[in-house]
Amino acid sequence: MSGGATTTPADGAAGPRVAVLHGVNLDQLGRRDPTQYGSLTLAELEVAVSGFARELGVRASFSQTNHEGEYCEALHAAPEVADALILNPGAWTHYSRAIRDALEVAGLPAVEVHLSNVEEREEWRRTSVIGEHCFETVSGLGVDGYRTALELLRDRLRTASGPAR
Ligand code: DQA
Repeated sequence: MSGGATTTPADGAAGPRVAVLHGVNLDQLGRRDPTQYGSLTLAELEVAVSGFARELGVRASFSQTNHEGEYCEALHAAPEVADALILNPGAWTHYSRAIRDALEVAGLPAVEVHLSNVEEREEWRRTSVIGEHCFETVSGLGVDGYRTALELLRDRLRTASGPAR
């Protein structure tokens, strides 16, 4: 196994393209603490988020990697394939300045999502080094947090592309 990034094609009709980037250990959902992360596997979570995206008229694509450099490369390439980003980098959220810098390079509107409520857990999880390049953080809503993030991005992109007043 290479352990490399996996990507699922965008779904839904025309609409803004949102890349959902899952980071380290998110491929282990279903085996991780269900009281924090729920019982869905990553594949099941992505099916649910694809459904939200269809309802909202957004085209979602998904990738996951356990390799920090690959996550950075996905961010470098993101402007070619996406209009906006949902990031759940897992534990990298709390310390990876490389990912923070790559997100700055991407320069796309981004929302940070965590399944668990990182504010209510260990002290070290309260730090996010990527937050300054995300216009919103959604934490503790489980899979529904991804719906909230899709709505926020859809509204943000609508406003950005709306008629000049
Ligand atoms: C997480 C929260 C992180 O603190 C943790 O390291 C994860 C998952 C979440 O979705 O709740 O791997 O990002």
